[in-house]
Amino acid sequence: MRRVTILGATGSIGASSLDVIARHPDRFAVFALTAQNKADALADLAARFRPQVAVIANRAMLPVLRDALRARGLATQARGGAEALAEVAADAGCDTVIAAIVGAAGLLPTIAAARAGKRVLLANKEALVCAGALLLDAVRRGGAELLPLDSEHSALHQCLAGARGGARDVRRLILTASGGPFRTRADLADVTPDEACAHPNWVMGRKISVDSATLMNQGLEVIEANWLFDIGPDRIEVVVHPQSVVHSMVEFADASVIAQCGTPDMRTPIAYALAYPDRITSGSTALNFQSLGALTFEAPDRARFPCLGLAYAALRAGGGAPAVLNAANETAVEAFLAQRLPFTRIAGVIEETLARVDRGAPAGMDDVLALDREGRRVAREVVERRAVVTGA
Ligand SMILES: NC(=O)c1ccc[n+]([C@@H]2O[C@H](COP(=O)([O-])OP(=O)(O)OC[C@H]3O[C@@H](n4cnc5c(N)ncnc54)[C@H](OP(=O)(O)O)[C@@H]3O)[C@@H](O)[C@H]2O)c1
Repeated sequence: MRRVTILGATGSIGASSLDVIARHPDRFAVFALTAQNKADALADLAARFRPQVAVIANRAMLPVLRDALRARGLATQARGGAEALAEVAADAGCDTVIAAIVGAAGLLPTIAAARAGKRVLLANKEALVCAGALLLDAVRRGGAELLPLDSEHSALHQCLAGARGGARDVRRLILTASGGPFRTRADLADVTPDEACAHPNWVMGRKISVDSATLMNQGLEVIEANWLFDIGPDRIEVVVHPQSVVHSMVEFADASVIAQCGTPDMRTPIAYALAYPDRITSGSTALNFQSLGALTFEAPDRARFPCLGLAYAALRAGGGAPAVLNAANETAVEAFLAQRLPFTRIAGVIEETLARVDRGAPAGMDDVLALDREGRRVAREVVERRAVVTGA
C-alpha cells in the first residue's frame, strides 16, 4: 500500500491523480492533500479520500478550511501556510509525493520530499527548471526516486527502459508538442486568455495552457529533459505533432527510434509513475489505430513562437538563467491572463528580464529564491512599462 501526498490536489493534475488512485484502493491511500486558496474544493476532496491532513497554502484561508472540514464531519487535520506544504511532503506518514503545484511555488515542498527520500512524481516542471542541480542533489542525498509525470518525459522514461548505456546509447530525445491553439492562426495580436487556454487536445490549468500556446511549455520541457536524462540541449529536439498521440521518442545510436503512444490523457503517465514498475489500469481510453487517421509531424515555428528559443538559450547559458527565465515567464503569463499584457509581448518581457538580471549560478536554495524574486521584480517593471506603451 502506497501512502500518497498530493501537492496541488485541487488542480488538473491533482484531479487526474485522484481519479487513478480511486480506481486502486488496494494499492493507494491518501495521506495529505493541499491547495492554495480553494478551501471548499479541498474539503470536498477530503470527504471523498479521507486524508489525515489537508493543507491550505494561503494561511488566511485556514479558518475557512477548518469550518469546511467540520461542516463535513471530518477528522482531517487542517494546516495552513507554505511551511505546512513542506511538512506534509516530508512526513513519515507518506512514501509517495505527487508534486503538482503550478510554478516555482512548488519548489520548496518538492525539495523537502526529495530530501526525505520519497518517491516523487514530478508534474511541477518549474521546480526542475529553477533548481535542477539542487533538486537532483536532494534526490541523491535523500535516497529519493524521481519519476516524471509530464506526458513527454513519461514517454521518454518508457522509451529508455532497457537502454542500459543511458545517455551514451542515445542519439536524440525527440519531444513532441501539439503546437497549441495558435499553430495555424496568422494574427496573434488580439489573442484573449480564453482563446489561449482552449488547448486542442488537453484540458489543463491556465498557466500551462498559455505556456503551450507560446511554446514556452516545450522550452521548459527541454530544460526538464536535460536534467532528468542528463543529455545536453544539442541532443534534445522538439517536433510539432498536432494529434498528441506520439508523446515523445528516443533515437538510439543505431538509428532505431522508439516512440510511446496513447490517447492524450494525463491518467496514463500518472498511473505509470504511481505503480512503476508495475502497470495498472488508468481509466484512459485505448487508441483505436483503425480510426486514428494520419499522424503528422512538422518543425516548430520559432519565429512566431520565440519562447522556445529563449528556453534553449537559457539552458545553454546555464547558471541562474533558467530560474530567471521561469520567473519572467510566470510574471508575464500572469499579466496576460489578467489582460494587462498582450500575448505577443510575453516573449519580449522574458527576453528583457534575462538581459537585465544578473544570472550567476545559484549555490543553494537561498540563491535560487533570490533569483526568482529578482526575476519577478524586473519582469513586473517591464510588464508595467510595456502595458503603458501598448495601452493594454
Ligand atoms: N495539467 C496538465 O495536464 C499538466 C501536464 C503536464 C504537466 N503539468 C504541470 O503540473 C503542474 C500543475 O498543473 P495544473 O495544470 O494541474 O495546474 P492547476 O490546475 O492550475 O492546479 C494548480 C494547483 O496548485 C495549487 N497552487 C497554485 N498556486 C499555489 C501556491 N502558490 N502555493 C501552493 N499551491 C498552489 C492550486 O491550488 P488552488 O486550486 O487552491 O488554486 C492547485 O491545486 C504545473 O507545473 C504544470 O506545468 C500539468
